[in-house]
Amino acid sequence: MKISLSEGTWDKSSADIVAIAIPSGKTALGRALGRIEVVTGKGSIKPLASDERFEGKASQTLKVSAGGEAKARWLLLIGVGEEKDAQKIAWKMGHALASTARAQKSAAVELPEVTPGSVRAVSHGLVAGAYRYNEYKSDKTEDTTLSSAVILGARESTRRLGAAVRSGKVVAESVNFARNLVNRPPNDLTPVSLARAASTEARKLGLSCRIWNKARIEKEGMNLLLAVNKGSAIEPRVIHVVYKPARPKKKVAFIGKGLTFDSGGLCIKPAAAMVDMKCDMAGAASTLGIVFAAARLELPVEVHAVVGSTENMTGAKAYRPGDVYKALGGQTVEVVNTDAEGRLVLADVLTWAARKLKPDYMIDHATLTGACMVALGPWRAALYTNDDQLASKYLAAADGEGESFWRMPLDSDLRPALKSAVADLKHIGGRFGGSITAALFLKEFVGETTWMHLDIAGPAFLERAQGRLPKGGTGFGVATGVRFLESL
Ligand code: BES
Ligand code: MN
Ligand code: ZN
Repeated sequence: MKISLSEGTWDKSSADIVAIAIPSGKTALGRALGRIEVVTGKGSIKPLASDERFEGKASQTLKVSAGGEAKARWLLLIGVGEEKDAQKIAWKMGHALASTARAQKSAAVELPEVTPGSVRAVSHGLVAGAYRYNEYKSDKTEDTTLSSAVILGARESTRRLGAAVRSGKVVAESVNFARNLVNRPPNDLTPVSLARAASTEARKLGLSCRIWNKARIEKEGMNLLLAVNKGSAIEPRVIHVVYKPARPKKKVAFIGKGLTFDSGGLCIKPAAAMVDMKCDMAGAASTLGIVFAAARLELPVEVHAVVGSTENMTGAKAYRPGDVYKALGGQTVEVVNTDAEGRLVLADVLTWAARKLKPDYMIDHATLTGACMVALGPWRAALYTNDDQLASKYLAAADGEGESFWRMPLDSDLRPALKSAVADLKHIGGRFGGSITAALFLKEFVGETTWMHLDIAGPAFLERAQGRLPKGGTGFGVATGVRFLESL
């Protein structure tokens, strides 16, 4: 999408559709609608708004035809309601505009306030809202959307605002990159093709991308990852992308769970729980999205993305409940339920990254547990860390991007649940606190590294669109990760 800045105002814009922020509250609402009636020469706007119960509340939009002095074809009135945060309003306006546009090709948006922050937010909203997944649709004209947008009222049409447009676009394009990977069907998005997609993108950006095949993974001794792979006809991959600027302030390693399909293995999932399990590589997708965005924004932070990727299948060689494997970190692990595969894959990758990269922060994204969704609902991710500062920095970044996380406890009281009769550890605890015991298992593999675990099982993939998250793959976590890196 082409996004440009203009000094103009909405009444002069000749775009197909123009978005205008409308406040709530009787007088403010009446004044805003009155002005639109004057410009469009239509006395029907107020009665229409009242018939449609449009009161300028934060969740409301109203599309009206323009006319009169206004040169645009359509006006999209967007309720602001109680929202005070100019960036959140801007984000919503861009998103509402691009997600509702169909045949309209050009748009304009008049923000209540034009600052670099709100310009970045509206650009992000526009590009993320224009996202459609149609790689496999023969007729791609069905879901067309905006090809250009103008941000109005940009009086200081300076470099700063131009840079804000670009960074909003880069973040949203990285979110959309992750969404595409998650939505791609699991017969086409395999560990092998995921690695190829990562290396193609890395090459475009001039980043190093190392890919390990099965033989190399065996040589490294990632036996937990290999155990999960045993039932699959497709080789596993470890993917390592590095962005290293000249004088990095910090080194951050993002780790991603890259299960391109999770059947549950021999402890097979019921059909209804298996149907969307192509989404089990969403952590990998977000991890890659973050490193690519960091590189394009040239952030002064060294960023690593390390992904462990395999399918979890039921082939003749599949790993079994009762099997014991020796982790890369040396611990022996008893397998109890082959559907708790993600933590096994992550364990070896975390061990490797902690030892070899020695990052300041190690942050994993994983669609790890259904229990997390039971605890927090489908739209919020769990955040675990033993570093209070890291937690508050990350939560602040998430708030800025409108993504919902909740800090959960690493209760050591639950640690005995991971004791095994035959091995050093078993990989699952009891029935209660399933998301917590999964996090406690991971903790065994991070050594002294400052580490954070993000369980994104809920918000990574949705049956129905919710707020800023679309149906299907959402790219959840990318925007927060990037903003966190910017805050370092
Ligand atoms: N990939 C699933 C978790 C998941 C569930 C992600 C729903 C997205 C939506 C994970 O591998 C899994 O199967 N976890 C099990 C663990 C259990 C066997 C201890 C679960 O949550 O049921
Ligand atoms: Mn599973
Ligand atoms: Zn899984």
